[in-house]
Amino acid sequence: MRPFKEAIFYQIWPRSFKDSNQDGIGDLQGIISQLDYLQSLNIDYIWISPFYQSPQDDYGYDVSDYRNIDPSYGTMADFIQLVQEAKQRNIGIICDLVANHTSTQHAWFQEALNNPNSDKRDYYFFRPIKEGLPNNWISIFGGSAWTQVNEEDYALTLFTPTQADLNWDNPKVRQEIKDIMRFWLDLGIAGFRLDVFNTISKIDGLISKYPQKKGFQFADDYILNRPKGQQYLKALLQDLKQDYQFITIGEGMLIDQEAAAIMCGPEKNQLDMIIHFDLHMLGCGPLGKFDFRKGYLYSTKDFKNILHSWNKAAIKHHFHVASTMSNHDQPRAVSRFGDDHTYRFESAKALFAINFFNVGSPFIYQGEEIAMKNMKLPIEEWKDFEAKNTYQALQSMMKVPAFLAKKIIQKMSRDHARGVMQWNQSAHGGFSDVQPWFKVNDDYESINVENQNEDPHSVLSYVRQLTHLYHTIPAFTQGKHTESMLEHPHLIVMHKDDGKQRISCICNFSKKKMKYTLMEDEVVLLSNIDHHSLNQLQPYETLITLNTYS
Ligand code: GLC
Ligand code: CA
Repeated sequence: MRPFKEAIFYQIWPRSFKDSNQDGIGDLQGIISQLDYLQSLNIDYIWISPFYQSPQDDYGYDVSDYRNIDPSYGTMADFIQLVQEAKQRNIGIICDLVANHTSTQHAWFQEALNNPNSDKRDYYFFRPIKEGLPNNWISIFGGSAWTQVNEEDYALTLFTPTQADLNWDNPKVRQEIKDIMRFWLDLGIAGFRLDVFNTISKIDGLISKYPQKKGFQFADDYILNRPKGQQYLKALLQDLKQDYQFITIGEGMLIDQEAAAIMCGPEKNQLDMIIHFDLHMLGCGPLGKFDFRKGYLYSTKDFKNILHSWNKAAIKHHFHVASTMSNHDQPRAVSRFGDDHTYRFESAKALFAINFFNVGSPFIYQGEEIAMKNMKLPIEEWKDFEAKNTYQALQSMMKVPAFLAKKIIQKMSRDHARGVMQWNQSAHGGFSDVQPWFKVNDDYESINVENQNEDPHSVLSYVRQLTHLYHTIPAFTQGKHTESMLEHPHLIVMHKDDGKQRISCICNFSKKKMKYTLMEDEVVLLSNIDHHSLNQLQPYETLITLNTYS
């Protein structure tokens, strides 16, 4: 299988990818049935969001049994078949390891609740209710970070109230996670995406700096990028890497470049790749994705600065970025960063080109390859806990009026990315024969795989050409990365040069025409519009060009 530094990754959120047994829920056999399609995108690895047994309060990120497949997704035999059939196509399977927390339905948590003498008590952070709230942290999804779990106990739940944080200071917990990783590695997987891995260690004693003064505070300062967590990660990888070769992709929640350099890099036992959030936070205020006080407004220059800053840092500190324009936690890329109305095709393709030129490895999120758009969801159809809970929290804690709270959620909701994959124009978008678990986006008759499959101008065809170039021009993955026109407000220009060839991305990331002249010996390999005019770039026009040195 291709080394990760030259590879293209595709993310599947299994519930919404493809339903094979007509129960309205995507499943592993559904993924198997689309392996040829995935292969046609020239991808090398599939990262699959969690399919383990789970009550689905956070759609699988609340695991109740790490060694079993949730029946709604299939069986272990299906998973083994998936690994094998993917391997036959030279595609590796990356599992999602959710190790910061378990579901409160997990046997460890249940044992801890039912038996006061159990060693599982120390797997979590329990605090006696009679002593009052241990601190005033609020959870990532809004509301107190402490959940009352029985008559006597609070448990720390930094995400939903049924995701209990694990106590990584307990060596038994670290051993359990290691054993789980071995279990999946023994099944032949290619690696792990490690869910929120920069939060596994909390400040000693869970002490806050301002416990009483403020009504509540974000836990970020006390849980993110803590040195102990970084040591635990190293020790874990050191042990496993002796026996297995595998890829590690760490989700760095709100991670900064300094911490990225510590957790990820070429040194032994660091993560191979890091996912950062900075691009996804563009236009958000300091309190995060639902802080609308900057109006979600940003310029192309701001967009470009973030790309440039991470590209520069990755080169300087030798870390490798998992480059994403969207994922299951973010709005659809074309709606968030592009223009999903007038220039949907052009801007979606431009975003692909940019993503593929960033330093790191490009990730495609299911549906991005056909430029699926955000959903128009009335409040009754919201599914995601984060959306529903933050809607309440914005009103009660931040005093945001309901109409505005609704607008804010509708802008940034994770539900956008979780609509079912639009395969064709038949009922339910070809995702299933029956009513899917979630609303199908209204636009499925015009936006779907089948429509775009044979159309040479489609986003899908563009993606196939781009991924093909990525794998055939060595400079693309091995060349030295540079950027030019850094001060230009609208043009994004990046190059990869291996001394023999230079491949470039020249992108007009704006709705206006821009002047631009190619060099004499510069050949256009791929364009996202039909008619390139000399000395000028159309709105969102993006050229991929090649110079060959004689
Ligand atoms: C990560 C996942 C997200 C999940 C959270 C808690 O951010 O991507 O979907 O809700 O972790 O597990
Ligand atoms: Ca199904």
